[in-house]
Amino acid sequence: MKVMGVVGSPRRGGNTEILVETVLAGAAAAGADTEVYRLNELNIRGCQACDHCQEHGRCRQTDDMALLYEALLRSDGIVIGSPIYMGYLTAQTKLFLDRLFAFFKPGVGCALPPGKRGVVVYSQGGGNDKAVIEALASFLAGAMGIEVKGIVGGNGLNELGAVRRRKELLEEAFRLGKELVG
Ligand SMILES: Cc1cc2nc3c(=O)[nH]c(=O)nc-3n(C[C@H](O)[C@H](O)[C@H](O)COP(=O)(O)O)c2cc1C
Repeated sequence: MKVMGVVGSPRRGGNTEILVETVLAGAAAAGADTEVYRLNELNIRGCQACDHCQEHGRCRQTDDMALLYEALLRSDGIVIGSPIYMGYLTAQTKLFLDRLFAFFKPGVGCALPPGKRGVVVYSQGGGNDKAVIEALASFLAGAMGIEVKGIVGGNGLNELGAVRRRKELLEEAFRLGKELVG
């Protein structure tokens, strides 16, 4: 089983990255091969709404999203993590999500091979925006057919690496990683 992680935070060593990597560690402990992509370090443009993908089944843009399309196709599991910025996902995460439109076919829906599983990760400061993450989880499940095993994250996490002191979140992340495989 292959599991990919996608980190939507620009902060290296940040809480989103730690939680995504902990989910991946749980998956690896259960026997998965894992890999992680940091969106902020990739060159990914926004969807241009040109509809090329709707006619030809692939995005016409030539940027690092090609790596993520390939990774998603070969992965059985995906872990997507984003901090909450201004009450929503980060721009890096949204660029990635919009580009997944390339997997949608008119009249068919999502053409991603079925059977993929997912975990959604988030991190935030003083707010309480779990609903944003729940909406993402239900989009992944309802529109993309990904079986979402759970959401892990929390607030009070402004300090770089603060989540290392939140044992309950780390344990839940590891557990969800194992469940992704099992
Ligand atoms: C531009 C910006 C906007 C933010 N907006 C919010 C917000 O709306 N609500 C909130 O609770 N935290 C907000 N935060 C705090 C981050 O969500 C928080 O620090 C998060 O844990 C960062 O994740 P990271 O450690 O993975 O980088 C914001 C931070 C930045 C830099």
